[in-house]
Amino acid sequence: MEVIGILGAGAMGSGIAQVAAACGHDVVVCDNLTPALSKSGKRIQETLRILVEKGKMTDGDAYSLFSRIRYTDHMSDFSECAVVIEAILEEVEPKQIAFKSIEATVKEDTIIASNTSSLSISAMGAQMRHPERILGIHFFNPAPLMRLVEIIPALQTEERFINRARKLVDGWGKTTVLAKDTPGFIVNRVARPYYGEALRILEEGIADAATVDWAMRDLGGFRMGPFELMDFIGNDINYTVTETVFRSFYFDPRYKPSFTQKRLVDAHYFGRKTGRGFYNYREGAVQPEPQRDEHLGRQVLTRILCMLINEAADALYLHIANRNDIDLAMTQGVNYPKGLLAWADELGIDNIVHQLDWLHAEYCDDRYRCCRLLRIMAREKRTFY
Ligand SMILES: NC(=O)c1ccc[n+]([C@@H]2O[C@H](COP(=O)([O-])OP(=O)(O)OC[C@H]3O[C@@H](n4cnc5c(N)ncnc54)[C@H](O)[C@@H]3O)[C@@H](O)[C@H]2O)c1
Repeated sequence: MEVIGILGAGAMGSGIAQVAAACGHDVVVCDNLTPALSKSGKRIQETLRILVEKGKMTDGDAYSLFSRIRYTDHMSDFSECAVVIEAILEEVEPKQIAFKSIEATVKEDTIIASNTSSLSISAMGAQMRHPERILGIHFFNPAPLMRLVEIIPALQTEERFINRARKLVDGWGKTTVLAKDTPGFIVNRVARPYYGEALRILEEGIADAATVDWAMRDLGGFRMGPFELMDFIGNDINYTVTETVFRSFYFDPRYKPSFTQKRLVDAHYFGRKTGRGFYNYREGAVQPEPQRDEHLGRQVLTRILCMLINEAADALYLHIANRNDIDLAMTQGVNYPKGLLAWADELGIDNIVHQLDWLHAEYCDDRYRCCRLLRIMAREKRTFY
């Protein structure tokens, strides 16, 4: 079995280490902070203890899984690794520096990957001697539970490294999708309107948070409504991702962040983790009741869904990923009840174009411009499947 290296022993690094060790790999986890290493060890042991308690794993298996993970604060311990996955802080410069150090210790054909959610993989490879082996391997949180992994080749990446990485991660029981090196890749780009359009609807007073959540959950079949989901992810994190995507797309109004969410962040109303967000999570707090008005609910669902489908169609039109990968990414990465392109076929593409054109005319806002692919398909009466 190949040895796997992980740089960064935080939430993601620990999760990925657990996944690789569960599949029989020896794993070397490196962090420049010693307390982070012991915290990671405790975190994984605690997860394994719960799995044993639930009968999902034997004591012996948990013991051998954990014994395959070795912790270190020296990157030179990566020397035998076939793949090193970086999961340190989300900034380009430290990642570039780390990549140069990894490159100085590993073999020439070692895959060097980043778990970044939003940064350019091509930029990370810019200062490497052999950037042909760099790529993005983007796991979702928590890595042991979430099946989707986005594989993102940089401009410099050679095909053989993409194939090797995909084969390896598929072998870990994950579903890999291929995404172009663009802001937000697939999931973090296509999902933006789920939050952004819900916030617009709230700001305009069309429906309150509880009603939007009810509509998306009960009428749309989404596992969580947008506001409960933002509270769950953390408004601080969700807002930062939106802002990063907005800036990376040169301020395209489609990705514009919301003041409403910014004010929550300003007030440290981060959501569940601080006890306050769009909802109040303190003990005894009374939760607002949704307005269970089916007509209003369908109006909300249609508007958000059309914006999501528009984004998915645009990702296809601009060759960010193929049709199947876009649908897989949204169903397995963020648990959408259906692939958005398959959903578009069900709703009727001319219907979606009509809805978007109405919003565009009504608001005179480029945010609602319809993707050209949808327009062509409506004209030619084509479907995605
Ligand atoms: N948390 C998520 O939901 C999530 C999901 C997908 C991707 N990501 C991405 O994964 C990466 C890691 O995120 P996280 O949530 O695990 O972060 P984290 O803050 O939990 O962990 C980062 C770890 O990296 C270590 N570190 C920082 N600089 C280092 C260096 N130069 N050398 C060695 N170790 C260093 C820190 O000590 C820390 O232990 C980020 O790029 C993030 O965008 C995060």
